[in-house]
Amino acid sequence: MNKIICENYDKMSKMAAQIVSDQIKSKPDSVLGLATGSTPIGMYKELVRMFQAGELDFAKVITFNLDEYYRIEKNNQQSYHYFMNEHLFKHININPENTHIPDGNTESVEKECKNYDNMIKKAGGIDLQVLGLGINGHIGFNEPDSELIAYTHLTPLKQKTIQANSRFFNSIDEVPKHAITMGMANILQAKKILLLISGKNKAEIAHKIFNGKITTNIPASFLQLHPDTTVIMDREAAEYIEF
Ligand code: F6R
Repeated sequence: MNKIICENYDKMSKMAAQIVSDQIKSKPDSVLGLATGSTPIGMYKELVRMFQAGELDFAKVITFNLDEYYRIEKNNQQSYHYFMNEHLFKHININPENTHIPDGNTESVEKECKNYDNMIKKAGGIDLQVLGLGINGHIGFNEPDSELIAYTHLTPLKQKTIQANSRFFNSIDEVPKHAITMGMANILQAKKILLLISGKNKAEIAHKIFNGKITTNIPASFLQLHPDTTVIMDREAAEYIEF
């Protein structure tokens, strides 16, 4: 794993956007795996700036988001559909038909998950997967457990995740208890992975994913198996990292 520590969130976000931009410039029809949550917001802001400055063209880019709450309507302001639109899609020239997010309101979860995996496969797999890190070590919504699931699936959210994500909702009771998420194989099959970690509350878990041990109790520890993963952290998140 290539580890980079940046002075602050802003520098981390700009460096991440540069990596995404380099990917798109080297392959205009890149397939990007995208994350939601607080961490990548600065990166999306910088990508929008690059697009508005005429430095970046999303016309041929294809995207697959990691996850969506279940059940949630697309137009719910807490949905990841809404998030992606607000922070990225509506500001750039991406073809809406090229953007994919699991349907968190599907009547047939099994069909939705199979279809999502097939669409990723048909697109040629993910060229660059952007990830955030849960405080419990989750990536996507692959939560710590005795076993992890390879492909797209419905998963219950752990109490720690519900608690952490309740900051976006009026009350903790409103946080959906399930999500549809890409699985570990979907993520690990990406050609390149970019993991972003920001803030003091991630320092403890950040240091545990680099310690040479791989455990299903910390799904992000599996990233140590991937041949082309870059981790960008801000100084607060990197407090316990040793070089
Ligand atoms: C979001 C996702 C999650 C988040 C993680 C960190 O699509 O898959 O794994 O990346 O929960 O969230 P933040 O960035 O809000 O701390």
